[in-house]
Amino acid sequence: MKAVQRWHLSMKDMQILPVPRHRSHLKKPTWILVLVSLVSLFLICAYIYPPHNSAACYVLSSKGCNGFSHWLPPTPAREFTDDEIASHVVIRDILSAPPTQSKNPKIAFLFLTPGALPFERLWDKFFHGHEGRFSVYVHASKDKPLHFSRYFINREIRSDKVVWGKISMVDAERRLLANALKDPDNQHFVLLSDSCIPLQEFDYVFNYLMDTNVSFVDCFEDPGPHGSGRYSEHMLPEVEKSYFRKGSQWFTMKRRHALVVMADSLYYSKFRDYCKPGMDGRNCYSDEHYLPTFFYMLDPDGIANWSVTHVDWSEGKWHPKSYRAQDVTYELMKNITSIDKSVHVTSDERKETQVRQCLWNGMPRQCYLFARKFLPETLDNLMQLFSNYTTI
Ligand SMILES: *[C@@H]1O[C@H](CO)[C@@H](O)[C@H](O)[C@H]1NC(C)=O
Ligand SMILES: *[C@@H]1O[C@H](CO)[C@@H](O)[C@H](O)[C@H]1NC(C)=O
Ligand SMILES: *[C@@H]1O[C@H](CO)[C@@H](O)[C@H](O)[C@H]1NC(C)=O
Ligand SMILES: *[C@@H]1O[C@H](CO)[C@@H](O)[C@H](O)[C@H]1NC(C)=O
Repeated sequence: MKAVQRWHLSMKDMQILPVPRHRSHLKKPTWILVLVSLVSLFLICAYIYPPHNSAACYVLSSKGCNGFSHWLPPTPAREFTDDEIASHVVIRDILSAPPTQSKNPKIAFLFLTPGALPFERLWDKFFHGHEGRFSVYVHASKDKPLHFSRYFINREIRSDKVVWGKISMVDAERRLLANALKDPDNQHFVLLSDSCIPLQEFDYVFNYLMDTNVSFVDCFEDPGPHGSGRYSEHMLPEVEKSYFRKGSQWFTMKRRHALVVMADSLYYSKFRDYCKPGMDGRNCYSDEHYLPTFFYMLDPDGIANWSVTHVDWSEGKWHPKSYRAQDVTYELMKNITSIDKSVHVTSDERKETQVRQCLWNGMPRQCYLFARKFLPETLDNLMQLFSNYTTI
């Protein structure tokens, strides 16, 4: 009360208080001179440092105003549509919200499989002893699998048919994310297939994913026929050809990014309708383009641009190398786990190879936590080797 009264008093004092004496002592010309100097100084400052509020940024240049432009798609040279404005405000709010604090943070492992999981015994070994720090979700699109591991029993979600290369693949990914988001403790989400195996021990994987703020979404620009060659102008105006990106479908995602994927219907429907097999006489596969393009446009700095799931494309065939039992040796596993550069090859005649050091929180580090494609016959070798290669 005292403080409040004193404040009131001083306010009143200020009102009654006459203009300070010393001011009236100034002679008129000096007073005007000071005022003119101050005004000029203000004008010079305003010229050198243009105002940084959003309205001014819009008029001047969206590139020059970081806080405002970082969440916008690149080069907005046109007026946004109603759908884009609505979509952007929702996405911006999700991305800028502080992460939900969880007392018991978990990683959600999302298995996208036609039926049985041949590596359940290996995953069982991987999960064993880490109860409470992970959750498992299985989307079995064809046959209901029989489970051997307690970590997988009753973990199936309602599923639907998945056709390779069609939007139903993306739908299954979204279904897995939606189910896993129901548990607020799930802070990071990992998409895996039935041919994926773990390359590292649980603790290593947990810390690698939890102690960084990026999602490992693969993303690069391929000007060739298997990249931008699949782009359709029907995606305009929202998705320009120069935004179109490619990447492996096997992602890991922070919770905020999983939410953003749930919130998106604008870009999703563009890819559903115009990136599909046979579109404009070409084959486009949404599962290789939707998320890389979406994140490139809306949160490029939020993704690592490589996938933590290794796959060997070096044979240059339509499908990546499938490992057989005789391939799986300590040396092979050592080779894969020690890779610390991500490689992208364009599909045009130049076959340009882009090699990037994998940076984890800015530090050079090994790129991979998981690998595919392993044939079921490799299980016994992998079980024997697991404790050995994971400690490399
Ligand atoms: C991923 O690439 C984008 C450009 O496409 C870049 O802005 C971003 O910084 C990259 N992410 C990381 C973690 O380096
Ligand atoms: C492992 O890497 C070395 C060096 O790159 C290579 O010579 C060797 O053939 C690789 N071994 C396997 C099994 O991939
Ligand atoms: C992520 O962390 C890096 C430093 O590790 C920081 O520079 C960057 O601003 C962070 N990004 C977000 C979206 O929090
Ligand atoms: C795994 O490592 C142990 C001890 O280092 C070794 O005795 C064993 O032979 C190794 N197993 C394989 C399959 O390499």
